Amino acid sequence: MKPRNRPDEEEAEYSTWTPRNSWSIGLIKFVSFLVIFMAGIIIGLSLSAHFTRSFNSQTDIFFPKTMYTTNCDKASLSFKGFLSPAHLMHSMSDKELFWRVSMAPKMKEYPFERVPKVAFMFMTRGPLPLARLWDRFFKGHEGLYSVYVHTIPDYKLNAPESSAFYGRQIPSEEVSWGSVTLVDAEKRLLANALLDFSNERFILLSESCIPVYNFPTVYEYLINSAHSFVESYDENSQQGRGRYSRHMFPTIKLHQWRKGSEWFELNRELAVNVVADYKYYSIFSKYCKPSCYPDEHYIPTFLNMFHGSLNANRTITWVDWSRGGPHPATYGAPNITPDFIQSIRNNGTSCMYNSRPTSVCFLFARKFAPSSLDPLLNLTSTVMGF
Ligand SMILES: *[C@@H]1O[C@H](CO)[C@@H](O)[C@H](O)[C@H]1NC(C)=O
Ligand SMILES: *[C@@H]1O[C@H](CO)[C@@H](O)[C@H](O)[C@H]1NC(C)=O
Ligand SMILES: *[C@@H]1O[C@H](CO)[C@@H](O)[C@H](O)[C@H]1NC(C)=O
Repeated sequence: MKPRNRPDEEEAEYSTWTPRNSWSIGLIKFVSFLVIFMAGIIIGLSLSAHFTRSFNSQTDIFFPKTMYTTNCDKASLSFKGFLSPAHLMHSMSDKELFWRVSMAPKMKEYPFERVPKVAFMFMTRGPLPLARLWDRFFKGHEGLYSVYVHTIPDYKLNAPESSAFYGRQIPSEEVSWGSVTLVDAEKRLLANALLDFSNERFILLSESCIPVYNFPTVYEYLINSAHSFVESYDENSQQGRGRYSRHMFPTIKLHQWRKGSEWFELNRELAVNVVADYKYYSIFSKYCKPSCYPDEHYIPTFLNMFHGSLNANRTITWVDWSRGGPHPATYGAPNITPDFIQSIRNNGTSCMYNSRPTSVCFLFARKFAPSSLDPLLNLTSTVMGF
């Protein structure tokens, strides 16, 4: 590199500059110097203004001002926004979202007063015909629950501002029943609900589900349970072990294979583990094709392999398979009587809760047709306790 000696030479020239003897020549020289000097300043200023403008617009492309002011300041950098995003809509892909929520706190203590909440996750194609029943169930218990709704993409859920469902749609994808996209939607619901650090229990529901107990009973039952409620059993039949594929070996062995209802309830720890799993999920996505249904096997098998002791192995969502066939019974207006609802709440048999027998086995029930809404609303205070 050339040594930088030029500025020094110029400096030397300036410093040796001295007025000549003649006063007028000196004045002319001084004035012309002043003019050139001022012109230089003006050109310099206008160039720098132009440069700043174009530089700013270039940085805007890479670091949009709105990203800093809207997302970071309000949602990420503020602790409150980090604990629970104010808005459910975001532009994260599943991959990005699952990775983010798989980071669970290592510290057991929370640096804020954490009131555990129950996340009610609704999977529906479109409308929620029983929303008014649920709204009555939720009323007065704000702060103890969160609602999440997965629909078909672009569906706009029409809920009044006073409803628990208002603004609770999550970014959704197409789901085809019986395929692994159903498991994707389950994981998507879990992941979006995990973004709220106060959510402790996660229950999957459909548009045809109803609560059969009041909110305080459901809340206490779930929050105080030592186990999660995922039906998981080994069935030596075509619909059980018959759906296992030998290609899953040795990652998943036949004796580890389980079956169970899709309608799960998970605690936070298990929810993180399910969302974070890719290894076993990918086996199901590759080898569990009709007539194997991933939604009936993936979570039951995964829990059996790694978290069996945390699972009650039974479901808390009642359903009637007694009529046989591939679909359970659907109940409409004529079926809704106090005795029927009472028999779901307690039919005389008992089940285990925290290792003790209880008569409260089911907190929710399916499937209920839209026509059942009015008769059900009639029974909430007398039979269901809300
Ligand atoms: C549920 O099944 C697992 C085996 O997967 C077992 O270890 C566990 O004890 C069972 N849970 C209860 C509550 O019996
Ligand atoms: C009560 O419900 C359970 C679970 O649905 C069922 O297995 C049992 O047969 C029912 N008992 C009576 C007496 O109806
Ligand atoms: C609600 O209950 C009242 C009184 O018990 C009854 O007259 C009415 O028909 C019921 N409505 C429905 C929709 O079941």
